Amino acid sequence: MAQQQRKILVTSALPYANGSIHLGHLLEHIQTDIWTRFQKLRGHECYSVCADDAHGTPVMLKAQELGITPEEMVGQTRAEHHQDLLDFHVDYDNYYVTHSDENRELCENIYNRLNDAGYISKRTIEQLYDPEKEMFLPDRFVKGTCPKCGAEDQNGDSCDVCSATYSPTEVKNPRSVVSGATPVLRESEHYFFDLPQFKDMLEGWLNSGAIQAEMVNKLKEWFEGGLQQWDISRDAPYFGFEIPNAPGKYFYVWVDAPVGYMASFKNFCSQNNLDFDPFWEKGTDTELYHFIGKDITYFHCLFWPAMLEGAGYRTPTGVNVHGFVTVNGAKMSKSKGTFIKGRTFLEHLDPECLRYYYASKLNDAVSDIDLNFEDFVQKVNSDLVGKVVNIASRCAGFISKRYNATLSATAYDSALLEEFQQAADGIADAYENRRYNKAIRDIMALADKANQFIDAQAPWVTVKDEDKQQQTQDVCSLGIELFRLLMLYLKPVLPKLSEQAEAFLNTELVWSEINNPIFGQTINKFKAMLQRVDAKKVDALIEASKENLKPTEAKAGAPMVDENSPLAKDPISPEIQFDDFAKVDLRIAKIAKAEHVEGADKLLRLQLDLGGETRQVFAGIKSAYSPEELTGKMTVMVANLAPRKMRFGLSEGMVLAAGPGGSDLWVLEPDDGAQPGMRVK
Ligand code: MSP
Ligand code: ZN
Repeated sequence: MAQQQRKILVTSALPYANGSIHLGHLLEHIQTDIWTRFQKLRGHECYSVCADDAHGTPVMLKAQELGITPEEMVGQTRAEHHQDLLDFHVDYDNYYVTHSDENRELCENIYNRLNDAGYISKRTIEQLYDPEKEMFLPDRFVKGTCPKCGAEDQNGDSCDVCSATYSPTEVKNPRSVVSGATPVLRESEHYFFDLPQFKDMLEGWLNSGAIQAEMVNKLKEWFEGGLQQWDISRDAPYFGFEIPNAPGKYFYVWVDAPVGYMASFKNFCSQNNLDFDPFWEKGTDTELYHFIGKDITYFHCLFWPAMLEGAGYRTPTGVNVHGFVTVNGAKMSKSKGTFIKGRTFLEHLDPECLRYYYASKLNDAVSDIDLNFEDFVQKVNSDLVGKVVNIASRCAGFISKRYNATLSATAYDSALLEEFQQAADGIADAYENRRYNKAIRDIMALADKANQFIDAQAPWVTVKDEDKQQQTQDVCSLGIELFRLLMLYLKPVLPKLSEQAEAFLNTELVWSEINNPIFGQTINKFKAMLQRVDAKKVDALIEASKENLKPTEAKAGAPMVDENSPLAKDPISPEIQFDDFAKVDLRIAKIAKAEHVEGADKLLRLQLDLGGETRQVFAGIKSAYSPEELTGKMTVMVANLAPRKMRFGLSEGMVLAAGPGGSDLWVLEPDDGAQPGMRVK
């Protein structure tokens, strides 16, 4: 039965115009793009828009640093971002910029409506001001001593050492990050949006199913904390839009950024003769979805729906929140080379591999997604090359060479074909609900079945038998039809590979054709479609990402390191938060036994007595100590490290020793009153 055509508008969060697109951003763009392509493939009227987020203090300062106007910088970055996205086959109907006439007009219009309805008020506040640079300082542009614990060089709003949060006016010995000057307190009139008036409306909206249940709980915590008036203005100098009838006052970037969704769509509508209003007016039956990362939920689930409602517009049908990308199990890190720009990835690997890998991991939850490169190589090679493309390459040659490139007229195994056709609804359901990982699992299970079928039929054997020519053609034809269905199901994820498949199959892959096999038709010559991922390329990518970031890592003003200092050769690792450190449980352990490990040059096998528990740990300290010397000594160990399987056995922790290495490495002597099991603080 034909389903009703839906009208859908989709957005991704607008990347800031002062940095490059990286693999974290790409998770979101790929998630959105797959969803949009899926809707289009199903025949719905679906548009997707995005833009560069042009405004705000960081963009303004970065442009100053580069010696160009913010408009120039934003123009360049927008073009670069757009090209990066296109090269990952992320295909927005419009990729615009928030510094546009449409956006200015919409912002003014929304503000005026909110103002007329009594949702805007003015109040004078005190803020830190940089007297040298002559500008008010956003929280992150103030540094100083933590008012709670006295730690130096902390951010203006929070302390990394004791985790306290505070207002920048409380910071001791504050200084401006911009000029180094000591900020002074200065008064200024600010404009506020009356969020508390929207409490009931927001509660209703949150309970409407617009966001994931786990997010609703988070938001309810914010509600319980009480909704606050939202400060929507910033003083000049600021790169943004001036507030109507308020000279020198600008909209805070987070006011005009979401309006940028509307503006990008408006720009698209005027170029494509499409009606803007049905997508934004109240009571419409069109659907509106925002895809965002968890860090910006507050803006999208509180301020934005309230602004829309207050200005008489529709609210979003759904805000789809995703988690953060980690690489090899850890936060993306510039020094480890795992802070990878989209462009650098493209220089080394095929973008569809990333699309496939992300799809295989994405679901409708807010949890973080780990890009594990070993798993990445394995999965792409085994699933795409080894399973899917393999089906076509196993069958195509026979059809082309022996059977005049023509497929048989009927299905050799109609039950198998039906199984593939009937999987469509479940796969569609998984895409629709953003459980791409389930869609991929289902599709790969089918690919396994197709390969098993071909294995069992062994056309490369039957083809040699004169009596089995029909059978061979039938088997390969079914193999190719099954390949068609698999590529159709994968089309939202792998648009380029699907295009190649379309060229080979001589047919367009469309959802409405699922039950219309291409039996009896001719196919084109099969060309290799996808290269295996070479793990060496991944290594090169990570190396290149390290180099990429070296110049910017040594920030101006960073302390010079003496070239003879150990820090010169072995720089201190990237900063971690106190919470990260607090997770490490350091204990005193007694080395009950130490022995050589057969076949290991550097390792000793230690038995550590934790005072009630014994652990086996392999430690690389053979260069400094003989087993006899170590026995009876104390050491500090990481007691809560996940056990690791090594070639020689399980290692259940890690011992700490200090020194430059080689024979100069020291553990503790047993005469300092240290007792096994003691916590090290
Ligand atoms: N400009 C704002 C969004 C305004 S939307 C009206 C912004 N920009 S951003 O460049 O910092 O982030 C853009 C999107 O990328 C956000 O949804 C953010 O959550 C997402 N990500 C940024 N880093 C990410 C990861 N490491 N992992 C996954 N997504 C991440 O916020
Ligand atoms: Zn502190």
